[in-house]
This record gives sequence, structure tokens and C-alpha cells, in this order.
Amino acid sequence: MRNKLLAAAAFAAVSFALAGTAIAQQPVIIKFSHVVSPDAPKGKAAVVFRDLVEKYTDGKVKVEIYPNSSLYKDKEELEALQLGSVQLLAPSISKFGPLGIKEYDVFDLPFLMSDDTRARQMMASPMMADLNKKLEAKGISPLAYWDNGAHVYTANKPLIRPEDFKGMKMRIQGSKVLDAVARELGAIPQIMAFSELYQALQTGVVDGEDNVPSNILTQKFYEVQKHLTVSYHGRLTYALVTNKKFWEGLPADLKAPLARAVKESTEYFDETAAKDNVDALEKIKASGKIQFHVLTDEEKRAWVAKLMPVHKEMQSRFGKDFIDKIYKASGFVAPQS
Ligand code: LMR
Repeated sequence: MRNKLLAAAAFAAVSFALAGTAIAQQPVIIKFSHVVSPDAPKGKAAVVFRDLVEKYTDGKVKVEIYPNSSLYKDKEELEALQLGSVQLLAPSISKFGPLGIKEYDVFDLPFLMSDDTRARQMMASPMMADLNKKLEAKGISPLAYWDNGAHVYTANKPLIRPEDFKGMKMRIQGSKVLDAVARELGAIPQIMAFSELYQALQTGVVDGEDNVPSNILTQKFYEVQKHLTVSYHGRLTYALVTNKKFWEGLPADLKAPLARAVKESTEYFDETAAKDNVDALEKIKASGKIQFHVLTDEEKRAWVAKLMPVHKEMQSRFGKDFIDKIYKASGFVAPQS
């Protein structure tokens, strides 16, 4: 009997030790949720990030990607990140307002950033430290900014002069500046999740939207819109964000390989986005499904003149000093009226 008990105890001890080893070897899982197509720059960069992470951590960290809002939609994904249900997102920074952080909306000031290189330098500069802290106070750590280039408009009628927006129902992201832009143009802004946009355009719930060409192509918005205006009036920037507690709690030996994967996937993103947006515009044009209009310099001047009051109006929201700081960093010079 005693021998049997000893044997059972020894067996239990060995099983426990083996289970312990198995637990120690379980990879860390990073769930990366996003709202775009796997073929869009963000979708491709997510795959690059996943592969780099696995390589640099020798499989100790695995990244599971959930594209196309398959796990969470815009607003839900930020809540899920705060709760720790997902560990990584790359939302548009125009969607941080509902978290109670209004400052990121400033980057939506119309025609603020026309120069790609400068926009990227600005988002990677120490100037962002104060804004990063605001996200951290909400339990969210920004790891990098991914700049996806300039916005164009699509609509079911031509948008050439500012007056053309009158009465148009336009889908916007959650930013208060985007709301003010639409209202200044005489349009009716409607905040809507990205995942609902195709159907809303198809059924006429909204008449138009603005986005980067790679999203218009990969979400097939061009199939349900009649006109596209190359206006480059705004930008789409993503923040690669993680749950602060999760990231800080990772074993020390994983930090450097993960930081390397962040850096290299950011470089990959910037190159891919610039190229994909040029290609997407060509492909949309070649489809023949949508009428193209590139704003002439004169038309653009009329848009800028129409939208400058939004810059002024937003001084009371952000403070003139903060806006001046952003002007300096972005290279924006207000036109003389
Ligand atoms: C949008 O909501 O229009 C975009 O921000 C979607 C995205 O993440 O590119």
C-alpha cells in the first residue's frame, strides 16, 4: 500500500513538473484587431508585424490578426483594448475623441499637412510626448504612428466647389474637427463605424465620405459611389496602440525583439501606404466605375478659403498656442485673406 502511495505521489510530482514546463512554454498571445481589409496597408503591415514578432521572439510571442472588424468595430475595439480583451489595435487617431481625449482631433484641421515626409516626421517627433501621456492615462500605450496619407472625397454627385456639399449627408469619423468641417461646407455629418460604410453608401443612408484611396479600393466604395474628388484635404494617421498593463507586464527578454518588430513594421507600413495609395487611385480610375475630378489650384484655393474659419473656430477648443505649435510642426502657413 505504502509503495503504491509513493508511486502515485511520484507520478503526480512528475506530471506536475511536466505541466509546469508546458505552461512555461505557452507562447504569449497578442490579439491584433483592425477594421480594414487584409489587402489594405494596415492589413499588410499587421501580417508583417506578426511574422517579425514570431521570428524575433523565436515563437515565444504569437500574433493573431482579426481584420475587417471581424472581432470588434471602431468604438468597441478601443473599449476591448482598455479591458484587455485584445492587446493591439491601429485605429485612426480621429477616433480617440470618445475616449475623452480631444487633442488628437487637431490633426484633422483641413489642409494642415500636405507634405508626407513632414507629416511622418511630426508624428514620430518628441512633440507627441504630451499626447502619448494622455493615451497612457487611459491605459493605452502608443507604440508607433502609421501615416496612411491624404484623404479624397467620394460621393453620389460631383464635389468640385465648396457649395456642392450643401445638404449632403456625409459619413465622418468621430472627430469634432471633422464634424466642424462638414458643417462649414453645409453638409450633414454622420458618425458611422467603418464596417457599416459600404452598405450605408449603397443604400443612400449617406451620400458620401472621405478616405484614403487604398480603403476606397479594398472596401469597394468606388462601386457604390459615382464621383471621386482628389482634394487631399485631410490625412489618415493610425496609432499602433497596446494595453499598457499588458505591454509593461511582458517578460524583459521579449521587449527588445518586440520593439524591433514595431520599428520595422512601421517602416514597412510607411512605404506600403505611400505606394498603395498611388496604385489604388490608378486602379479605381481604370475600373471606369467612378468619375474622377482632381481639384485645380484655383478650386483648391476656394476650398481652403471656405474651410479656414474651422481653424479659427477650433482655437477655442484646443487653445491658440496648441494650434500654433501644430502649425509649426506641420509646416502649415495660414493663407493671407
Ligand atoms: C475610417 O474609419 O474611415 C478609417 O479610419 C478606417 C481605417 O482604419 O483605415
